[in-house]
Amino acid sequence: MVESENTYDFLFKFLLIGDSSVGKSSIFLRFTDDCFSETFSTTIGVDFKIRTLEVRGGRRVKIQIWDTAGQERFRAITHSYYRNADGIFVVFDVTNTASFENVDSWYQSVTKMAKGAKIVLIGNKNDLTEKRQVQYGTALQYAMGLGVDYIETSAKESYNIHKVFNMLSNALVDEHDSRHEKNGGGASTTESTFVFNSQPVNPQSGGDGKCRPC
Ligand code: GTP
Ligand code: MG
Repeated sequence: MVESENTYDFLFKFLLIGDSSVGKSSIFLRFTDDCFSETFSTTIGVDFKIRTLEVRGGRRVKIQIWDTAGQERFRAITHSYYRNADGIFVVFDVTNTASFENVDSWYQSVTKMAKGAKIVLIGNKNDLTEKRQVQYGTALQYAMGLGVDYIETSAKESYNIHKVFNMLSNALVDEHDSRHEKNGGGASTTESTFVFNSQPVNPQSGGDGKCRPC
């Protein structure tokens, strides 16, 4: 990961959504600050951080990551952040069947409010093997039915956390490249900055930059 870089080739807005306590903030903090806390501290509204990473071809991708509250009472606020998202992680907890069943309604809201966003389904807490309620095959089949990727993670053990962000960034860059090729090429993509749907980045406007105690 490349930190504190002001130059970048792509700017993406990513969102983490899903039921409360599935581990969205834990994935967010594991990726942004490499920390994890066993203590559950529910998200109030939204939080965001910015990170830069390098993808295929040495291109730099700046990501605005929005961690949203899963609790129903914040739904109106969190929905307003769906707009202009480039990528959305719909997260459920593999030890909680209800959180998997609710993926359907999260998916519906995304298709209504974040048209065009690339979606990845995440089954988190895969370290809790003995408590697993949702089988890998079941979730994979469901994701295939929707035409989205499925990946399991563990924020606790830092399993597949960087991979999901890399995967989605690479997929969006590839999508851009193939569109660019179809349109007849032109200037090298590495020399331009492509802001997908994202709004301007203002690091002062959100994210307290603090991590929960690890
Ligand atoms: P809301 O903010 O309410 O929407 O919840 P959230 O989805 O952000 O959940 P959060 O990340 O706060 O995690 C909820 C609880 O699950 C916390 O106690 C975490 O420690 C725990 N947790 C999160 N990810 C994992 C994981 O991968 N493995 C295990 N074992 N526990 C996890
Ligand atoms: Mg949270």
